[in-house]
Amino acid sequence: MKIGIIGAMDIEVKELISSMVDIKKETISGIDFYQGKLEDKDVVVAECGIGKVYAAVCAQTMILKYEPDIIINTGVAGSLSTELRIGDIVISDGVVQHDYDASPIGIPAGMISGVNLIKIPCREELVKKIFKAAEILEDTNIALGTIASGDQFICSKEKKDFIANTFDALCAEMEGAAIGHVCYINNVDFCIIRAMSDMADGSAHMDFDAFVEIAVEKTILIIKNFLRN
Ligand code: ADE
Repeated sequence: MKIGIIGAMDIEVKELISSMVDIKKETISGIDFYQGKLEDKDVVVAECGIGKVYAAVCAQTMILKYEPDIIINTGVAGSLSTELRIGDIVISDGVVQHDYDASPIGIPAGMISGVNLIKIPCREELVKKIFKAAEILEDTNIALGTIASGDQFICSKEKKDFIANTFDALCAEMEGAAIGHVCYINNVDFCIIRAMSDMADGSAHMDFDAFVEIAVEKTILIIKNFLRN
């Protein structure tokens, strides 16, 4: 069993990479891939860059070159729910692309052509295992639901409400659904784990850099616990 792990930013994967042993690094299309062992399991970890195109290139390359059995996408997200505060966790049961919109030609907003789905589902068995691994966190709300991705950092109430209401999504980020889409068409199981770093509405108290560090630590703990079990 080999597990692929993708994060968009250096801060989202650097702790995982520094915990790995027997590391071999390769750079493909400008993306660094680190193969090795983490918690005694075979892993390949990559930092893809921000946005859906980088995420898709990374996932497709990882699948073709390293053949992972599953891919986990880790990182931070903006909360779309009043129930989810900074530091809380969302685990995907499926992903949507909130900026995929061919509705002027009669295709429902968000419907991905070819696969004909708005929400690309994760496999329940994997999601359950990751949810269980997340129970290691104390004082943290862990939610299961839809994660929405698009090539925009969401920071207005209008946009936040649009995504939450149209797609019934719990949080917004910029890569997960692209990775899910690539995994789905390649028959690779996937799951997205995101810690809330902001409220996606530009609220005055937002201090993104400070919250990212706290949030990322939690997703790393979940991944390590998942690998151990
Ligand atoms: N990643 C973290 N916060 C985000 C937000 N508000 N919108 C998109 N991606 C994010």
